[in-house]
Amino acid sequence: MMTTRFTLDAREIRQQFPFFQPHPEMRNLIYLDNAATTQKPYAVIEAVSNFWAYHNANVHRGGHGVGAKASELYEAARGRVARFINARETAEIVFTRGTTESINLVASSWGETFVQPGDELIVTEMEHHANLLPWMRLAEKRGARLVVWHITDSGTLELDQLRKLLSERTRLVAVSHISNVLGVINPVAEICRMAHEAGALCLVDAAQSIAHMPVDVQAIDCDFLAFSGHKAYGPTGIGVLYAKRALLEEMPPYHVGGGMVQTVRWDRLRWAEPPAKFEAGTPPIGEAVGLHAALDFIDSIGREAIAAYEHELTEYALARLQEVPGLRLYGPREGRTGIFAFTLEDIHPHDIATVLDSRDIAVRAGLHCAHPLSERLGGPTARASLAIYNDTDHIDALIDALHYTRKVFGYAG
Ligand code: ALA
Repeated sequence: MMTTRFTLDAREIRQQFPFFQPHPEMRNLIYLDNAATTQKPYAVIEAVSNFWAYHNANVHRGGHGVGAKASELYEAARGRVARFINARETAEIVFTRGTTESINLVASSWGETFVQPGDELIVTEMEHHANLLPWMRLAEKRGARLVVWHITDSGTLELDQLRKLLSERTRLVAVSHISNVLGVINPVAEICRMAHEAGALCLVDAAQSIAHMPVDVQAIDCDFLAFSGHKAYGPTGIGVLYAKRALLEEMPPYHVGGGMVQTVRWDRLRWAEPPAKFEAGTPPIGEAVGLHAALDFIDSIGREAIAAYEHELTEYALARLQEVPGLRLYGPREGRTGIFAFTLEDIHPHDIATVLDSRDIAVRAGLHCAHPLSERLGGPTARASLAIYNDTDHIDALIDALHYTRKVFGYAG
């Protein structure tokens, strides 16, 4: 076993999560499915609960104090997101239901307005369906061409390859910051720079990076960036679309309805300014308040500290996974995070997950909503994914359980 000194005490962090405290209805679970969703700290649960209990009202509507307070809390959450990702202004933050809705918004609003027949959209082979299907559908609707940026055999993207794919017809490059299967961290700032040089826009899917490393939209210089609250210790039902102000100005609304208009007359419609223009109907108010608390929780630890700790834990896991005979890990050895997709001998990944679950270890198995990538890898995989509350004991338990899984399926040694 390795003797590394770790920079954070995950046991202390687990104290902040009810999910990890003894409870008659709870198993003592080792939770390694953080790429799917993270657990929630007390601070988030209390913020949401307090909102529903004491501050619940609709926003930007009521002529009463409680409505003003709800609006203040909702807009404070927007301001918190803007600071968290270093947006130039809060108007660049649109609240959505999650990463998927954020990207659909861009594909429908920007895409259907500005993408012309014959234009090209570059997507990578490692995209989650959330950052793939909206572009496939847009290409089909608009007669545009979807151009696939294939990965290398080690699961990385080569910039030289992108250089060859970019053309004067490229309108957008859509790329994940971190792959939800390979764990690889993509050089998104460089990718955006290259897209811009070719006259294209760049959209970054930050669903898997937002809670695990600093994400700075000005440093990346992306045109669009999307993430979900629930993968960042916050509630489900809330997500963010960041877009540069000038783009939001020229994009038409995605949904229409209450709260997003200046003038409605039979002969004339005038939309509200962004971000309201994109937030028709009652928004996810309590969820935004919960996201605010989640971002506070992350920054109370510090994103540099989180990245450093998760890197140490990733190194530890990579070393220990090598000890398991017949285990095949996907993705590169370097430049990656704590998302480990693997196969074990010829055991079906769903069976691996079932045996691990019987040992109180939660992982995901299957195609991970990334069918083209999974096909490239040869089929389904099991996936363990880390968060800030995991530690070496969890990795050790996973390794023991994988040895046990081999035995259950009759593999010797
Ligand atoms: N996108 C989430 C995952 O990869 C659901 O598991």
